[in-house]
Amino acid sequence: MDFIDLKTQYRRLKPSVDARIARVLEHGQYVMGPEVAELEQQLAEYVGTKHCLGVASGTDALLMALMALDIGPGDEVITVPFTFFATAEMIALAGARPVFVDIDRRTYNMDAALLQAAITPRTKAIMPVSLYGQCADLDAINEIACRNELPVIEDAAQSFGATYKGRRSGGLTAIGATSFFPSKPLGCYGDGGALFTNDDRLAAILREIRIHGQDRRYHHPRLGLTGRLDSIQAAVLLAKLETFQEEVVARHRLGARYAELIAGKFGTGASARLRAPEIEPFNTCVYAQYTVEVDQRDIVETRMKALGVPTAVHYPLALHQQPVFKPLGHREGDFPASESAARRVLSLPMHPYLTDEQQRQVVDALADSVS
Ligand SMILES: Cc1ncc(COP(=O)(O)O)c(C=O)c1O
Repeated sequence: MDFIDLKTQYRRLKPSVDARIARVLEHGQYVMGPEVAELEQQLAEYVGTKHCLGVASGTDALLMALMALDIGPGDEVITVPFTFFATAEMIALAGARPVFVDIDRRTYNMDAALLQAAITPRTKAIMPVSLYGQCADLDAINEIACRNELPVIEDAAQSFGATYKGRRSGGLTAIGATSFFPSKPLGCYGDGGALFTNDDRLAAILREIRIHGQDRRYHHPRLGLTGRLDSIQAAVLLAKLETFQEEVVARHRLGARYAELIAGKFGTGASARLRAPEIEPFNTCVYAQYTVEVDQRDIVETRMKALGVPTAVHYPLALHQQPVFKPLGHREGDFPASESAARRVLSLPMHPYLTDEQQRQVVDALADSVS
């Protein structure tokens, strides 16, 4: 069994993927070809924003968003310590200081109740993460941001296709940034990402940053990157978009079935022997990861591997525990919810083509592995 099976999806989409890639090879516009604009239009429509930019990766999307907001040395950007490294890495790479706000233990996303206390006169932006495919509480975060006149960047790398109160992830904040890394809910066949905004001025700045800060050929009013999405990756994404919503629905169904199987083996509520994901009633989750919590995780992982079920840990260290962030001066215990999650989380195989039988096998193995 694969942790994420991309080959079954390719077999299903092969005629369309192959034809679209072949078209790029024929027309030869490998950089900023017509597929990029076509994809951007479809993605903007899907997410519900005025602008979308295809970019080189989710990491570049975050960096470009920070650059567009003129964030640099002396500035603070608030984010969570329980996320993929890139979130805080890009804040630091932009020259700013990542300021951490702990997560809500139920959802693994920013605890909005702790946000106001972290804001200082140096705060320049708030970057919540919609982890595992479920949006952070963005209305609450936007409201605090608005009161403090701060922009919000949603790190939607794991939540493309998710909804929050009926609206799509990526389009809920000043800027939304997502990733099309192959294993993401919508993934290409290499690196890719996208930025979303309704703000014309920010969109124009982001377009400049995407091509070395140029406003016209060889004229550079600002610094930028080689931040473009390749035409071939755009072609792959256009093919995958044809069935993406069906896959999102499959993810909802598979998430519900995992919950049912786990409840059957481990019980529900406070007395449950294993913690399954909790999805807020106003959210739909795309389960970029289906992540449970267990005691003695190392033992459970080893036992499951022996039973033929791959698992993964997203993520084994909270970011304030990473060596490179030592100079921030945090100590063990500063962010207890993040530290506890980092010790206990375990992600199970999850992709839209998982079969009933495979899900049963995963949960049986889990029951045999948890002591
Ligand atoms: C929460 C989060 N932010 C940012 C990224 C970075 O995206 P990419 O790998 O496309 O650079 C990822 C991807 O793993 C992620 O999960």
